[in-house]
Amino acid sequence: MYVLITLLIVLFATFYTFIKRRYSYWEKLKIPTLNPSFPFGDLKSVPPPIQFENIYKEFKKKGVKHGGIFLFTSPQYFPIDPEIIRNIFVRDFAHFTDRGLFHNIKDQPIMGNLFFLEGTKWKNLRAKLTPTFTSGKMKMMFNTMLECSYPLKDRIEELIKTGEVIDAKEILALFTTDVIGSCAFGIDCNSFKNPNSKFRDYGRKIFHETPFKAIKGIFQHVFPGFAKKLRFILIAKDIELFFNKIVTDTYLYRTENDVVRNDFMQLLIELKKDLTLSMDEVIAQAFIFFIAGFDTTATLLTFCLSELGLNKEIQNKLRNEIKIVLNRNNGELRYESLKEMRYLDQVVLETMRKYPPLTIFNRICTEDYRIPGSDVTLEKGVQVLISSLGLHRDPDFFPDPLRFDPDRFSDENKKDIIPGTFIPFGDGPRICIGSRFGLMETKICLVTLLKNFDFSVNEKTKTPLEIGLGFITTVKGGVWLDAKKV
Ligand code: HEM
Repeated sequence: MYVLITLLIVLFATFYTFIKRRYSYWEKLKIPTLNPSFPFGDLKSVPPPIQFENIYKEFKKKGVKHGGIFLFTSPQYFPIDPEIIRNIFVRDFAHFTDRGLFHNIKDQPIMGNLFFLEGTKWKNLRAKLTPTFTSGKMKMMFNTMLECSYPLKDRIEELIKTGEVIDAKEILALFTTDVIGSCAFGIDCNSFKNPNSKFRDYGRKIFHETPFKAIKGIFQHVFPGFAKKLRFILIAKDIELFFNKIVTDTYLYRTENDVVRNDFMQLLIELKKDLTLSMDEVIAQAFIFFIAGFDTTATLLTFCLSELGLNKEIQNKLRNEIKIVLNRNNGELRYESLKEMRYLDQVVLETMRKYPPLTIFNRICTEDYRIPGSDVTLEKGVQVLISSLGLHRDPDFFPDPLRFDPDRFSDENKKDIIPGTFIPFGDGPRICIGSRFGLMETKICLVTLLKNFDFSVNEKTKTPLEIGLGFITTVKGGVWLDAKKV
């Protein structure tokens, strides 16, 4: 009995010392901290975007430029100063080349995609894929996107006739699924005729958030080695098999029948033909274009229509601009017309400011890094978290941040935006590769919709909008809209 009690005391003392030491990690480096407690560290039970915005605010209140937090017992560097953030993203990128997010390519080759790859493998692939996203290539996909917006318009007309309220996110995700299905896979998903198509079903499944998924995600991030040993995978096997088959079948069909189309798949096929990419790599890239492309854009459109529904003056001003530009071209939308719609651009940028579809950015320190202007050195292996929501809603950078005001991005005001404070697509060499594609798709959709309908927010929507669970920003309770023909 005596031995057992002694053993328990020793075990407890060792564990206590380990935790104490762990939680003093940032203090030793003289980096400000909050009040971590075992076992969750600084984690609180609120949705992750809000969690990290709150941490941003706490450090801001302390008047510091950066801080250190703990996810469970794992230290995470948390810069809030735009200059430090820009250095990490851009100037000192060589020290932060990777996201450091959990992935398991060995058990799941589909994760060997641009978003997750690291170091030289990422660098080589990024160079190969960059030509895929030039404005010339975007222009080629313009008509495909425009055509995908017509079934969306027809569906809204049907809903107006039947008097049904519009589930904004769902209907917009049908549109963005059709766009990415066409442009990345060369497949007509026909989501509006078949809302339970496999593409839409798997899309829903990938982004369906549950508290369990959120906890699993944090666990994998904090203990990647352990998660790999347990052979955790990020994407369910049936989803992986579906994308494997779709891409392989499309590849074989096109190469055997000499079919050439203006889409991403064509560009991937060409990279495969000259042995630049293997079949697994082609599948992995088509897959990431799908998951990175459709939910982010549907989210942006959902928030945009809800703000326009709440701010009729802004909606009318935008519709006027759209009509004026379209009238110059016999009512037709052309690729070049989008550039003439200056206010449309401002509305989209302001939506991404107030509601960035991705709110948390990850980097991992890949080489020891001395933070400029300090004597603090971050060790290789330390993870970095950056909250775009914190920056975008900081009243020092965007006064009255919860007010939706597209004029912040007018030519006159835009120049006052401090570099590094507006980062909807991230920054530096790992900035979103699909930003042009996502913006063009969003604008085409808004033009088709506003030309035809006036939107209001239905009372079923909880306002002000509250951010919910999810890696991609969601709205608690959803966004419900009413539409009228104009
Ligand atoms: C409005 C729509 C979109 C938003 C808001 C968005 C946002 C982002 C953000 C914030 C990142 C991380 C950047 C960083 O860590 O610095 C990212 C990365 C990425 N996005 Fe997007 N994205 C959008 C649309 C798209 C589309 C349409 C595609 C592809 C067709 C795409 C493909 C990617 C890829 C492949 C990466 C990883 C890039 C790399 O690591 O080299 N995104 N995106």
